[in-house]
Amino acid sequence: MRFENKVALVVGSACGMGNATVKQLLREGARVVAFDNRADAMDDLADEIADECPDAPGTLDPFIGDVTDKEAREGVLAHVRETYGSIDELCYVAGTLDLMCPAHKCDDELWDYVMDVNVTSAFKLIRDALPMLLDHEGPAANVVIVGSVGGLFGSTAGTAYITSKHAVLGLAKSLAWSYHLRNLRVNVVNPGAIMTSILENAMERWPDRDIMDLDGNELYNEKGAVSLGMDAEGNNMMGDAEDIANAICFCLDDANKYLCGAEITVDGGWTSF
Ligand SMILES: NC(=O)c1ccc[n+]([C@@H]2O[C@H](COP(=O)([O-])OP(=O)(O)OC[C@H]3O[C@@H](n4cnc5c(N)ncnc54)[C@H](O)[C@@H]3O)[C@@H](O)[C@H]2O)c1
Repeated sequence: MRFENKVALVVGSACGMGNATVKQLLREGARVVAFDNRADAMDDLADEIADECPDAPGTLDPFIGDVTDKEAREGVLAHVRETYGSIDELCYVAGTLDLMCPAHKCDDELWDYVMDVNVTSAFKLIRDALPMLLDHEGPAANVVIVGSVGGLFGSTAGTAYITSKHAVLGLAKSLAWSYHLRNLRVNVVNPGAIMTSILENAMERWPDRDIMDLDGNELYNEKGAVSLGMDAEGNNMMGDAEDIANAICFCLDDANKYLCGAEITVDGGWTSF
């Protein structure tokens, strides 16, 4: 019960890692505002919770909206303020792929959308939530941003995605330094290859774009293969959404009061070889 009565806003909560994070927070007593643009998947989330953790002590408060939409961002923060008065935990998990698109094929529309979901909207939402996050009495408030191992090196994801994931590391470090004396901790979790619906979600959004259109780039070399979740022999190396939810909750845990400005990489060893 690390999060009993804590107010948590989870952005990108319907599928994948956000979904797993919401469930973990509910199991440990949080009041969770679950923000996502997929109304269908949010209905599924509520059904899954009723099925998988019916006795979870926390409460689920779904909010449908697109995080790139100013009104939706303002709406969810107003809802939190009016309903709960403040936020203890802000988890920015939402993200989108660029379908591994290299720079020479990345048009403005793809670049702008990927940068908006992965970086710009993270900045704007967190900035606008700061009045509720700063100067908490007692344990610090927390922001956790989900980055990627693609924010640590080039990898085989596309130009927009890799750029966006490098950028959120800078965002997190700047926030951590700016507000560490105002009782706010900011940390980043960098997943490796995780079994989620991120590729399907991106393909649904961009049905006419090619996937992994690398134009001769080597995807199936030793490092490239790992980015698809397998080692050089083709063995599965993918992690589960729960592995990332655990790391997010580790960052949020009040017991880790000195953890601030950290990057926690959860990748089954990928970046160590
Ligand atoms: N899956 C992986 O292998 C992997 C690896 C490294 C990093 N990541 C990062 O992890 C995070 C979570 O990804 P995931 O794999 O769980 O993906 P996912 O697609 O399964 O879940 C992402 C969630 O974010 C929501 N979302 C996307 N755009 C949104 C928007 N504009 N407004 C509101 N909600 C929006 C989606 O509806 C979805 O519920 C992302 O930041 C992603 O870049 C994923």
